[in-house]
Amino acid sequence: MRLTWSYFLVTTTIVSVVQSSKLYCLTHRGSVHDLQTCSTSKTRSISAASLSSNAATNIPNGNKVIFDLNCQADSITCEGVSTTLAKAADIITSVFQFESPLIINASFINFCQEYKDCDDNGVSSIGQAYPTISYIMVDTTDNITRMYPQPLLKQFTDLKVKPNWATYDINAQFNTEVNWYFTNNPDPISSKETDFLTNVVHEMIHGLGFVTSWSDDLYKVLAPLFDQDLDRFITPSLLASTAFEQILVGYDRPQPFWGFVEFPLDKFLNFKVESTNVTFPFTTITKQLNYFMNSNALFRSVIDLANTWYGSGAYNHAVDIYSKSVTELDVLAIIQGEPVIALETSVKPYSTGSSLCHVDQEKYVNSAEYLMVYTAKRGIGITQLNSIYPHGPIGPKLRKLMAGLGYKINSENPSRPVLNYWNPPNGLVKTPSNPDPSFTVNLNGPARSPTTSPSAFVTTHTASSTPTTFNLPHIINFVFLLPLLLLFL
Ligand SMILES: *[C@@H]1O[C@H](CO)[C@@H](O)[C@H](O)[C@H]1NC(C)=O
Ligand SMILES: *[C@@H]1O[C@H](CO)[C@@H](O)[C@H](O)[C@H]1NC(C)=O
Ligand SMILES: *[C@@H]1O[C@H](CO)[C@@H](O)[C@H](O)[C@H]1NC(C)=O
Repeated sequence: MRLTWSYFLVTTTIVSVVQSSKLYCLTHRGSVHDLQTCSTSKTRSISAASLSSNAATNIPNGNKVIFDLNCQADSITCEGVSTTLAKAADIITSVFQFESPLIINASFINFCQEYKDCDDNGVSSIGQAYPTISYIMVDTTDNITRMYPQPLLKQFTDLKVKPNWATYDINAQFNTEVNWYFTNNPDPISSKETDFLTNVVHEMIHGLGFVTSWSDDLYKVLAPLFDQDLDRFITPSLLASTAFEQILVGYDRPQPFWGFVEFPLDKFLNFKVESTNVTFPFTTITKQLNYFMNSNALFRSVIDLANTWYGSGAYNHAVDIYSKSVTELDVLAIIQGEPVIALETSVKPYSTGSSLCHVDQEKYVNSAEYLMVYTAKRGIGITQLNSIYPHGPIGPKLRKLMAGLGYKINSENPSRPVLNYWNPPNGLVKTPSNPDPSFTVNLNGPARSPTTSPSAFVTTHTASSTPTTFNLPHIINFVFLLPLLLLFL
């Protein structure tokens, strides 16, 4: 079931007493993100991050990207996989100068057997990758809260206190059931083959932080509660929310609202007002959205949240920004005043995992920036494309963008704002300073308990989100935290 990845942002509200040695982090398990406390490097005891592996102790000199591979295929295939991963590591380290080695937990496995994600009507996933963990940081240049994926935060070498880093920076899984072309193949790629190298490098760029937190997940959760159409909208991820499962199990569970949280890339997103061509940062909208209930409310249920949201200015802002995100070339990444690249906004309706976290398909597919378009071509690979684009797969605009995030890249200056660890503000609902807040109740609105059963809701939700994807022949789709899907039609 591939759409298990398109879940609502899930954070559980496990917040223990804040100690100075704790910081807040999100562990990512596919689409599920658990907000929790992680320890800093001073305390070695409990930590979501304390994973054990030999990989860390076995790093060849100068090798700054290590794939720790679990390959479940025959030895010839596994040889192809590991040769290609090594080549991908070479490509990445020839561009990025990492401050410390990054370790990727890579698996080459049969998705149908492992995840019950089987080729269904010609649709199957080819792989997925996501950071193992992100840390919740406040950017002191704009005081916005952002989730820093571990590989990116590792570049911020002047952090006074460092997290007790998780062993793995990125989890990546690739499906054995794809007709892959590996780099050690002496024959040229055939028209039926998919280049493994391109996909690994593409995924790695997402894992390094080319990911947006803007999604229509909240819309999808709220829409079934409204008889008349709720206008589509997007928001960044909810900092606190009860788990998606809990919302599905019962719409009557209390819902804490702590505001919205961006990824670092979101700082560069700007939308264009067509009549004037003036651009505005998405972050100005995030700020507006965070005025909703002052980012500190405990709704008695999703219904109360839905009614309050429906009547709010935040909803209008979220609807406006949605329209920008589905209008071609209306969203640009702008770094220090310089427009760098146009992001993917031609997918309608908005598709979490495709929209905004890729570059514009039409504008860049036949350019040096081809790597980060959201569709993949069969029968062509990096080897052929290198003769046309001698920079290699990581184009000049992409380099500028990744340097903007904080990576050190030849010829580009990394931009590394001063970051502080996020701490719950005093009085934040459901935290030690306000453990039993009063409920916000609002039944003065159109939201009603959904008539469909929770399981029917799941089906409707997933089915309704597929058609856009189905129209496109060969897609890499990064749902929430960068799962990669390919459709075979
Ligand atoms: C590594 O990836 C595999 C396959 O996705 C997963 O089962 C395992 O838990 C991961 N290991 C760690 C330490 O995260
Ligand atoms: C960020 O917040 C701090 C503390 O409230 C304040 O002193 C500072 O001026 C703010 N900075 C910006 C850029 O808003
Ligand atoms: C906006 O930019 C487009 C493309 O560069 C240009 O054709 C158009 O004339 C501009 N509009 C205004 C109002 O400046």
